[in-house]
Amino acid sequence: MSENIVEIYDISYEGAGVGRINGQIVFVPKTLKGEKVRVRIARKLSSFLLAEVDEVLHKSDKRIEAKCPYFDQCGGCNFQHCQEDEERNIKLEIIKKELAKAGYFGEIGFEESDRRYAYRNKLKLEVLNGKLGFFKAKTREFFEIASCDIASKEINCAIPKVKTFLSQNNLQQLRSVYFKQVQNQLAICFLFPKGAENLVKNIKKLELFDFFSVFFAFGQVLESNYTKIFNIYGDSKLIQNIDKFEVPVDVSSFNQVNDNVAEKLYAYIETFCVGKRVVNAYSGQGLLTFRLAKSAKFVYGIEYQVSAHESAERLCNLFAGYKIENICGKVEEVLPEVLLKDRIDCIVLDPAREGCQISVLEAIVKSRLKEVVYVSCNFSTLVRDLRYLTEYYDIFSIKIFNMFPCCVNMETVAYLRRKGAV
Ligand SMILES: C[S@@+](CC[C@H](N)C(=O)[O-])C[C@H]1O[C@@H](n2cnc3c(N)ncnc32)[C@H](O)[C@@H]1O
Repeated sequence: MSENIVEIYDISYEGAGVGRINGQIVFVPKTLKGEKVRVRIARKLSSFLLAEVDEVLHKSDKRIEAKCPYFDQCGGCNFQHCQEDEERNIKLEIIKKELAKAGYFGEIGFEESDRRYAYRNKLKLEVLNGKLGFFKAKTREFFEIASCDIASKEINCAIPKVKTFLSQNNLQQLRSVYFKQVQNQLAICFLFPKGAENLVKNIKKLELFDFFSVFFAFGQVLESNYTKIFNIYGDSKLIQNIDKFEVPVDVSSFNQVNDNVAEKLYAYIETFCVGKRVVNAYSGQGLLTFRLAKSAKFVYGIEYQVSAHESAERLCNLFAGYKIENICGKVEEVLPEVLLKDRIDCIVLDPAREGCQISVLEAIVKSRLKEVVYVSCNFSTLVRDLRYLTEYYDIFSIKIFNMFPCCVNMETVAYLRRKGAV
């Protein structure tokens, strides 16, 4: 069999090196620009090849030894093999190319995370035959892990306890385990399929979990209105201290994964909202709504997950002086009404990876709203939505927040102003 030697001349938007074999594009994860690598073809698709590195023949001077022993097989991290400044350059290059598709060629800001490792306050591990691990990149092939370098120290301390717990109980239905750290508290949530409630019994060795909070959840995913959650050990409440108040937060609701970057992100978004009437769409547990309400004139929060909305309401009640209205519903259904009844100056959109529904963008355009702050963890859907909005809005600034160091994902904030608005 002939050897496949590839020269990497670019990095794809998924973080893989790009080269050619006999003229055909090949994607080689975990390589860097300028490198020459010997590869094995993993998959042939009609218009490109996917390959794995067998040997790096010529190394980039930006290459470093990956910290994590699972880096080669894991689908989680993309950039442990390069220096931090190279990761920043790659991310900026990726986003620059993507934003050009929406007609943006201006400056791009970059806010770094204080930590490159141990930053994740939540982690989802898969379970197979009582073992804990991840799936290999782009497959359902399971591998077991002992720790995860980008997860917090506390989460890594909990992994061995969960392993012991699994070895002491016969939890055949168990699909995944979620770890969620809220300040100094840790919650562990075991996710079973819906309907498995009666099969999960005679649970032993819960005391292994000391001061952790343990939950059993039944459903497809944790963050859902249809998942039933039971606290089976430890404190049922997770408490976040905000401005000297103890605010109960919900184990099944969305939270930003990197506390340090989330703080910088929220502070930045706030700068666009001072003294304005604001809609915070896709508002989760209301932490950003609360933050914006400190300096805005009024903030509407719109969120469809009931438990997240309830958390947002609790937060709102604690800070009764703040002008907030939380609405539980789908943004696509609620937003047109809010825009009709009130004169909104600025909308903050922070949708899930799927981006905004077209009807949401249509409602914004129709209302002639002046300012849009679009926060996104998925630049493909961000660019799709910006392409629609830029017919009516100009992009004034773009800033990346490195919420997910070592991974190709990034949080991007686009600030848009209505064309011709003063
Ligand atoms: C990326 S999170 C943002 C949360 C919030 N901005 C924060 O910083 O915590 C997206 C949120 O949108 C909610 N969501 C997703 N689709 C929605 C929809 N169509 N209408 C309302 N909320 C939605 C999810 O439940 C989730 O809480």
